[in-house]
Amino acid sequence: MSAQPIPSVASSTPVIDPKVFRAAAGNFVTGVTIATTMGTDGQPRGVTVNSFTTVSLDPPLVLVCVGRSSRSFAAFDGAEAFAINVLASDQRQLSATFASKAEDKFADANWEKGRSGSPVFPDSLASFECVLHEKVDAGDHIVLIGRVIDIHRASGTPLGYFSGNYIDFAMQRETVDTPGHCFGGLFHCGEELLFIDQDGKLALPFATSLGEEQRESDSLLGKLEALGLSARLSFVYSVFTEEGRDGLSAIYLGEIEPTAQPRHPSVRLLKPEDIPFEQLSRFSGLIRRYIRERDTDQFGLYVGTAIKGTIHRAR
Ligand SMILES: Cc1cc2nc3c(=O)[nH]c(=O)nc-3n(C[C@H](O)[C@H](O)[C@H](O)COP(=O)(O)O)c2cc1C
Repeated sequence: MSAQPIPSVASSTPVIDPKVFRAAAGNFVTGVTIATTMGTDGQPRGVTVNSFTTVSLDPPLVLVCVGRSSRSFAAFDGAEAFAINVLASDQRQLSATFASKAEDKFADANWEKGRSGSPVFPDSLASFECVLHEKVDAGDHIVLIGRVIDIHRASGTPLGYFSGNYIDFAMQRETVDTPGHCFGGLFHCGEELLFIDQDGKLALPFATSLGEEQRESDSLLGKLEALGLSARLSFVYSVFTEEGRDGLSAIYLGEIEPTAQPRHPSVRLLKPEDIPFEQLSRFSGLIRRYIRERDTDQFGLYVGTAIKGTIHRAR
């Protein structure tokens, strides 16, 4: 039997309209980062970049794509080290500056030299300091794959980018962070879940504000801080109304930073299999759902009353 000729993909590839390509790519929602490096002239260089991707966990690798038309191209092309700074929602102006052709983008920025020698922005949500692992030529860009040698991390809300516009996730929170509402948190610390011991009953922490922007002592994050816990919020897990209360109640998922410091005696961190469900004051259904969904990392959003509602899932 004679071998079938393999059809040439190249000859049958239709020409893609660059405008359509850009518009379709813009429908992919991303965060916003600033890639930085030190030029051979000793000057800091930086470009706003949303082509950031984590590549490998072991070894820890990340990548960014830098355009050949960028004025900083030569600096990145010859870089042995670079850093990626993940921007927070209040760093929109910084993003605009580093997406511009401004002469000295670093003049008004709060930055410092990191371990890699590359500029890092201490106010950003995370910085990945890298040494060059591999450089790949890719059309009008180069792909820089970096091995992460140091990480800085802070809590806050991210800056997003979609279809040529910035998205401010903080604004979505502000709409619910208003008087009359009530906020709880289901926080994990590694495998363990956080409960507060209230006279022998285990409860989730609750407050009348989230305390993300200003950590008032009676806010959710402020109350946890007073218990020696450094917490960060991820996303809303359950929104419901309760009889006799006007506002909404919302329970967020969140994370507690591990610490060697002694914690307040009312703090209980329990592995799912050790949770005494009969001692829970409320929300055993929600906690059981979390334990189930955590295994598949696919969380739904509960919307309803305290008794009955619907779980919405992303398809
Ligand atoms: C949200 C956003 C994302 C961007 N992503 C990239 C990117 O991934 N790679 C890139 O080369 N340029 C990207 N750019 C464009 C550069 O930031 C822009 O060309 C900048 O002017 C380059 O600066 P320079 O010419 O001073 O080096 C992006 C711009 C914005 C606003």
